[in-house]
Amino acid sequence: MKTINVGIAGSCGRGSSFRIACEASGILKIHAVCDINEEKLEESRVMLGAKEKYLDYYEMLEKSDIQAVIIGTPMNFHAPQAIAALKKGIHVLSEVPAAVSIGECKELVHAARQSKAVYMMAENYTYIKTNVIVREIVKRGLFGIPYYAEGEYIHQLKQLNEITKWRRKWQTGINGITYGTHSLGPILQWMDPDRVISVCCAGSGHHYKDPRGNFYENEDTCVMLCKMKSGGLIKIRVDMLSDRPHAMTNYQLQGTDGCYESARAPGERNRIWLRSKCRDMTWMDIEQLEDEFLPQQWKTQAEIAMKTGHGGGDYFEVIDFVNAITGKKECPIGIDQAMDMTLPGLVSQQSIIQNGAWLEVPDSRQWK
Ligand SMILES: NC(=O)c1ccc[n+]([C@@H]2O[C@H](COP(=O)([O-])OP(=O)(O)OC[C@H]3O[C@@H](n4cnc5c(N)ncnc54)[C@H](O)[C@@H]3O)[C@@H](O)[C@H]2O)c1
Repeated sequence: MKTINVGIAGSCGRGSSFRIACEASGILKIHAVCDINEEKLEESRVMLGAKEKYLDYYEMLEKSDIQAVIIGTPMNFHAPQAIAALKKGIHVLSEVPAAVSIGECKELVHAARQSKAVYMMAENYTYIKTNVIVREIVKRGLFGIPYYAEGEYIHQLKQLNEITKWRRKWQTGINGITYGTHSLGPILQWMDPDRVISVCCAGSGHHYKDPRGNFYENEDTCVMLCKMKSGGLIKIRVDMLSDRPHAMTNYQLQGTDGCYESARAPGERNRIWLRSKCRDMTWMDIEQLEDEFLPQQWKTQAEIAMKTGHGGGDYFEVIDFVNAITGKKECPIGIDQAMDMTLPGLVSQQSIIQNGAWLEVPDSRQWK
């Protein structure tokens, strides 16, 4: 199959982590890198094996012979950079979240609908092995009707805020759920085709100051409740400030015939109870169901996948992107799924200002 030339935006940061997956895809060739970091740009070009380098993203779109971009720049650049690529018919794999405002979401949806190119949001936590097994079990009906779930992203990043300074503005400088797609993404796939119709959000107050002596605008823990169209409920907790061990992949799911609770700390087990599999009311380890429910692709490509980041997620999302571009498979996190994962967090930022009022979450499918 013909090689697809890729441009990597943010190649000195997150963008650099896509090298192994692109190589392993056998079709994506990193042709150009782009980063505003002049000092490190050449190093990243060599590391990623690219032919060209650019300090300016729009110049890369204009001049480089690329058919796809991977956007790994800070959050506020995701939507504008994706829109510019889509307008040129260039496929987009964008880091999360898709956008930082509802206005940007509308523009992005419009651009994706107008473009012939594929838009995919790189929600890699949906590809983590245990999350994939749960998705498969739900799909085969063993959970019955899923109606309640929890997701938590607890990642103390006060020091990282000072290195990657954009985080101080876009992640901890706004109150509400600013980085919720890792928690919400897998859950929405478990609850598919349901969607969030309204959210409310509250915080736990401000207990930490940045090195300049200012309280973070983001409350230490923010909790968003999501009401589903079906009547179900999701609870999302995001905390990037509290001093404590990280716990970025906590999940729970409750259905009429089963429930799942991910391990919350090293040494704990990912446990599941299924009416059809477990005697009485006793848990089993989800690993015991791996043989039966882990998709074949995950089994055969696990070794290479585990060489990339985030428990193999960084690999499988790139493979799905390739499959979408080449028309082999529908894009699993296309523009509407990206909006389903992104919009609740953005609306939660309005809710927390309004004392936790329940606010409606727009459905991008209705945007003309
Ligand atoms: N999916 C995941 O698991 C995951 C993990 C880490 C980061 N991220 C996301 O990736 C993005 C980058 O995060 P990071 O930790 O790598 O940040 P970072 O600051 O380390 O890297 C971002 C890079 O983008 C460059 N950059 C900034 N503005 C640019 C522009 N306009 N054009 C081109 N390059 C530009 C910076 O110089 C930097 O090298 C964020 O959106 C973050 O949320 C996702």
